[in-house]
Amino acid sequence: MIREWDAATYDRVADPQARWGREVVDRLVLRGDERVLDAGCGSGRVTEYLLERLPRGRVIALDVSTTMLEEAGRRLATASGRVDFVLADLGDPLPVEPRVDAVLSTATFHWVPDHDALFRNLAAVLGPGGQLAAQWGGAGNIASIRRVLETIGDGWLGPAHYETPQATRGRLERAGFTDIQAWLQPQPTRFEPGEPFERFLSTVILGPQLARLPASEWEGFVRHVANALPGPEIDYVRLNILARRSESGTTEAGPG
Ligand SMILES: C[S@@+](CC[C@H](N)C(=O)[O-])C[C@H]1O[C@@H](n2cnc3c(N)ncnc32)[C@H](O)[C@@H]1O
Repeated sequence: MIREWDAATYDRVADPQARWGREVVDRLVLRGDERVLDAGCGSGRVTEYLLERLPRGRVIALDVSTTMLEEAGRRLATASGRVDFVLADLGDPLPVEPRVDAVLSTATFHWVPDHDALFRNLAAVLGPGGQLAAQWGGAGNIASIRRVLETIGDGWLGPAHYETPQATRGRLERAGFTDIQAWLQPQPTRFEPGEPFERFLSTVILGPQLARLPASEWEGFVRHVANALPGPEIDYVRLNILARRSESGTTEAGPG
């Protein structure tokens, strides 16, 4: 699904994502001269830290949102000689050449509808033995918010989907990955009540719901969700993976 973001606000409020993202970057084993794909770079906060880990390397900052890529371009301006910005959809074959040494992705894969296609597309641009380190919303993510959404209007939960480690491991194997670790990590996160919490909800979580409403109804919708929750807390559950592309690069035949 192609969707534009309020990238400047995302950049300002997405502190939890930036904090978790650094932990994911630190799971990559790097010499410092590699080429790494940041798949769903957003406004570039995590990309910026990745660049610190690659003093002689390069980053391909890829995203489907032009507003996010523009924001990332501003944030990463001083390092722009070491960054290639790519507008592309992770659900399609990726315009990334030559192959990269590693793929990083944070807070993105739950927005990509077809994970079999996603992992095949990543495997296709990752060199043999290359690392994949990623984190996104996993099974049980934001369950309390989804319970509230079920009670509003037609109960639409949005396009994001939250998968289990078991299903994800199978998809990664079929796409040609090996040495796979996949695990869930509950990350309940508290916010300042009122405007900061509502701003976070509207910018980071409720975008698809708001896109279906006239702007005049946005504030009321977000306030309703915030007030229906037990408190200004989000029951985040992250799905982490670490894997390597198989040395042979072959993928299992099958229905995918
Ligand atoms: C929540 S932001 C995460 C940004 C950044 N990685 C971080 O951790 O802060 C999710 C990003 O994924 C991008 N995205 C969603 N679906 C995508 C797709 N199919 N292909 C490429 N990027 C996608 C969005 O445009 C957005 O920039």
